[in-house]
Amino acid sequence: MKRDLVTLDGLSAEELRSLLALAARLKQQLAQGQAHPLLAGRTLALVFEKPSLRTRVTFETGMFQLGGHTVYLAPDDIGLGKRESVTDVARALSQWVDVIAARTFAQQTVEELAAEASVPVINALSDLAHPCQIIADLLTIQESRGSLDGVRVTFLGDGNNVVNSWLVAASKLGFDFTLACPAGYEPDAGVLERACAAAAGSITITHDLDQAADGADVLYTDVWTSMGQEEETATRLQAFAPYQLNQSVVDKATDGVIVMHDLPAHRGEEITDEVIDGPASVVMRQAENRMHAQKALLVWLLEASEAGS
Ligand code: CP
Ligand code: NVA
Repeated sequence: MKRDLVTLDGLSAEELRSLLALAARLKQQLAQGQAHPLLAGRTLALVFEKPSLRTRVTFETGMFQLGGHTVYLAPDDIGLGKRESVTDVARALSQWVDVIAARTFAQQTVEELAAEASVPVINALSDLAHPCQIIADLLTIQESRGSLDGVRVTFLGDGNNVVNSWLVAASKLGFDFTLACPAGYEPDAGVLERACAAAAGSITITHDLDQAADGADVLYTDVWTSMGQEEETATRLQAFAPYQLNQSVVDKATDGVIVMHDLPAHRGEEITDEVIDGPASVVMRQAENRMHAQKALLVWLLEASEAGS
């Protein structure tokens, strides 16, 4: 049976750990100049309803390094769900390509693609989730701190798609996750409930920034206005202003804290220049690791699908 990754729920804790190990191995091999064309002759379709720098380039570059090929389909190219139904796009693409990565507004769209495609489908960001980002971030934390065990991750800002994927990761891997957000901007209620029920570590949602920053090993933030929410920008700027990741927040965390942001950043809003460019920042390492993590994901998904696991 083919495997998909529409949220991190699609991976067991053991699978997530072996994916991270594979990503680290592929990264090391690349650094040593070893090319392994594990996906020679394979094609990846990128179906994107929203803009992207990192996700698109890392999928394309990663697939190239693995000996495969990528076809990028912009919103106006195929008019997903408008020119043609999601079902027909999924079924037609399955005739030609080996794997699909889709960036969508509705989570339902990527789930429908997965349900109707006969090839693996990867969520390359939806309004609900951003699993590829979190796999790369976990790899980055492992590299920076040696392990995920006992790590305390604090996210400041919106309970958005990135946070929802953090919650699932925390529920599987057993590190502590805290979100400090303004009232009304909590994560998806269903995702939060499932994550808390399954949590191997602790999950805390608070409105108290100081409490959240105190003792944090990782301080993470993301834009206050996600793609598709542009009409709410003014309200959000006001609501999130007290949650900016600035030097006074960094000073409240542990010595050796690392600062993370999935990017793109709105400098001067959710994070200051001083912090994103400062010594604690690992944001460019995160961006780099998107490619290694997604190479591992592509290899693993295709192998797992073919093995019928
Ligand atoms: N972090 C991330 O997904 O970046 P892009 O939107 O540029 O792909
Ligand atoms: N939360 C952001 C993430 C961008 C990578 C958004 O959805 O726009």
